[in-house]
Amino acid sequence: MKILSIETSCDETSVAIVEDGRNILTNRIYSQIGIHQKYGGVVPEIASRNHVTKLPYIIDEALAESKLSLAEVDAIAVTNGPGLVGALLIGLSTAKAMAYSLGKPLIGVHHIEGHIAANFLQFPELAPPFLTLVVSGGHSHLVLVEDYQTFKVLGRTIDDAAGEAFDKISRVLGLGYPGGPAIDAAAKNGNPEAIAFPRVMLDKTEYNFSFSGLKSAVLNYLNGKKMKNEAVNPDDVAASFQLAVIEVLVSKTIACANSIGMKSICMAGGVSCNSLLRKMMGQAAADAGMTLYYPDPILCTDNAAMIGSMAYYNYINGEESDLSLNGIPGLKI
Ligand code: KG4
Ligand code: ZN
Repeated sequence: MKILSIETSCDETSVAIVEDGRNILTNRIYSQIGIHQKYGGVVPEIASRNHVTKLPYIIDEALAESKLSLAEVDAIAVTNGPGLVGALLIGLSTAKAMAYSLGKPLIGVHHIEGHIAANFLQFPELAPPFLTLVVSGGHSHLVLVEDYQTFKVLGRTIDDAAGEAFDKISRVLGLGYPGGPAIDAAAKNGNPEAIAFPRVMLDKTEYNFSFSGLKSAVLNYLNGKKMKNEAVNPDDVAASFQLAVIEVLVSKTIACANSIGMKSICMAGGVSCNSLLRKMMGQAAADAGMTLYYPDPILCTDNAAMIGSMAYYNYINGEESDLSLNGIPGLKI
């Protein structure tokens, strides 16, 4: 089954064609990062307008690259939440118009379930159950994937998402947007032990996260230095902040997996590109006798192939959408 999928929930305009949930025939991604960079973050209205102008061309590119005609596509899938409502609606209206005019099934996909499914595209042997750490610009969740469509949230951030904290700290350090890759790069030149930022573990027996206290601690540190007219080494701040985030993510994930006796762990979402997270989670999983999976960076950040993978499992389990499918900014997993 070949599914053409559309992802427009934030600032990537992406179209993919995925076969049987596992095999990427094409995965075209147009990133608007360059457009939003000068504002220091994504401007929702500008994101929507760029989806409108770019999406038809990205669909043509995907069809050309896959050498398929629309008649050879079996279904149309689209992210319907969570995300920026205007941005979601561009993908949704396009997908609905295509499904209706072609007489093909329409499949709505949850963006976070899509991030998790990105792992199926890279690891043919991977099958539920497994625990996933989903860390992106908007989400930090520990999700038990019991079956392809059965998700149990075992932990989540009670305030900021990990990616949001990376983006904010990068901005105050003047390292630019998006913050994750900038902090990751700066941290390579810094000393992670230079500043002892707090590790917010909350209750040790629970698997929720909190990053707003760490964010405030970094801001207080920078303000204190400024008031005393003392120099700041941005690389040391980046490295110390990054280590504080990653230590919490790794220790909570491993503790959560241990608590349910799970030996398979996946990572998903933009923050799972982070080089220290990959290294430290890899080491911790190996020490605990667990198998760790994470996709290539291009499948960690927003892309339509992950939506096409999840759509396949929705469809074969009888979940088809109709034309009333709507964009839901806060869609729950
Ligand atoms: O999954 P994603 O593309 O979009 C959302 O669904 O939010 O994630 C984007 C987030 C941004 O906050 C970005 O700063 C972060 O992922 N990110 C990283 C890295 N690459 C991207 N965070 C830490 N280290 C990275 N290397
Ligand atoms: Zn995402």
